Amino acid sequence: MKRITLNVNHMMADTMGDKGITRARIDAMNGMLAAAQKNVQENRGKGWQGWMELPYNQAEIVDKIERVAKGVRENFEAFVVLGIGGSALGPIAVQQALNHLHYNELPDEKRNGPRLYVEDNIDPERMAALLDVIDVKKTCFNIITKSGATAETMSQYLIISELLKSKVGADFSKHIIATTDTEKGNLIKLAKAEGFETFYIPSGVGGRFSELCPVGLLPAAVCGIDIRAMLAGAADMDERCKNNNVYENPALMEAALQFICMNEGKNIQVIMPYADSLKYMADWFCQLWAESLGKRETRSGKTINAGQTPVKSLGVTDQHSQLQLYNEGPLDKVITFMKVENFRKETVIPHGCEQFSDVAFLGGMTHNTLIHAEEKGTEYALYKNGRLSQTIVLPEVTPFTIGQLIYFMEMTTAYEGELLDVDAYNQPGVEESKIATYAVLGNTGDKYRMKGEEMKTRPVEKKEYIL
Ligand code: PA5
Repeated sequence: MKRITLNVNHMMADTMGDKGITRARIDAMNGMLAAAQKNVQENRGKGWQGWMELPYNQAEIVDKIERVAKGVRENFEAFVVLGIGGSALGPIAVQQALNHLHYNELPDEKRNGPRLYVEDNIDPERMAALLDVIDVKKTCFNIITKSGATAETMSQYLIISELLKSKVGADFSKHIIATTDTEKGNLIKLAKAEGFETFYIPSGVGGRFSELCPVGLLPAAVCGIDIRAMLAGAADMDERCKNNNVYENPALMEAALQFICMNEGKNIQVIMPYADSLKYMADWFCQLWAESLGKRETRSGKTINAGQTPVKSLGVTDQHSQLQLYNEGPLDKVITFMKVENFRKETVIPHGCEQFSDVAFLGGMTHNTLIHAEEKGTEYALYKNGRLSQTIVLPEVTPFTIGQLIYFMEMTTAYEGELLDVDAYNQPGVEESKIATYAVLGNTGDKYRMKGEEMKTRPVEKKEYIL
């Protein structure tokens, strides 16, 4: 069984000297860690912790997903996800991790399913561009929104449903699959009225914790990914996280280390996969970490302005862009590498350029050895500069290891919420901008009208500051 591991040597004082974290510092958190573990484990499946049970309670749903996915593969040449935030980042990340890096460009016979597009923005040029490359008559649209009310997603629905009606008439509903809450919101009402195929996001599963329910599983299955293996990977990580010993529970250890880092002013976590397949896993993690932990108040209402800013960086690409800052800039960062031990391909570098010794020495090596060497080199440079780093090691990128990785990051976030004493499952900071947007658009609901009035009290912009 291939398990992912967390190597924290370069976080610890044993390696990093006085820049590192001592075992005594971790041991001093014993009480806090025990309480975090108790709360997380005791509340599994309850409240917003429904996501913890997803590896176990979806047998019938997985059967249905595979059945519907097969139908989509047989009948459509493109599959378009319309969603945003937690309703989009997981599908993007898993597709990038587990399918061909140029999946959409492959000829039909070499692809495991229809072309996949995940439209997670309302840039008007984006919708126009999508419509340039798909034939809506041969496309299935998966509208994903937990709340069933998100303006971005519902506006996309309006555009697509009207277009479909004009192109395929009464059959338009056969081109739409809704993934939404069992009862809340508008999408479920539309789905029932129009007869859309529907999947449910369980009530205790929030957007950014929803990748392992139909939100992520349906697009993955449509594109031929083994979703049962993903869930098995998640269950395997769950077992490891039941361990109360912080030195044996990777997510609890990770939460403890990041908590210590935050307390020492390391308020930025750079997540740096050395694999193109994992670059959108970094995006998915950024949302999970930022939206869950960036909170003004503790659960009892004390102001703390908690959180750690996640930054995505891609190895080796960003060695030539951001690494200078990480090595010599402010001491406010911790670097999390993601390393793949065995890539699915090997690229051999041929011999040549013998007249140039510092090019010729590469001949006969592989890109596999080169990327590993560069990751090691970067780790060493950070070490020399007294910068903390750690490595999540994936023996290989498979549905099983990706399931582990997703669950590991979700568990770490849940533990961190406990340690910081914040509600990891809400997002009150997103509301202000939502309400203000609706006010700008002239929505006449009471709270939007009041917000519109409040917005008028803001100081008028001065011309001298517009250059
Ligand atoms: O994590 C979250 O809850 C959010 O990021 C949501 O996923 C995002 O706002 C989209 O919401 P919805 O799925 O309700 O359209």
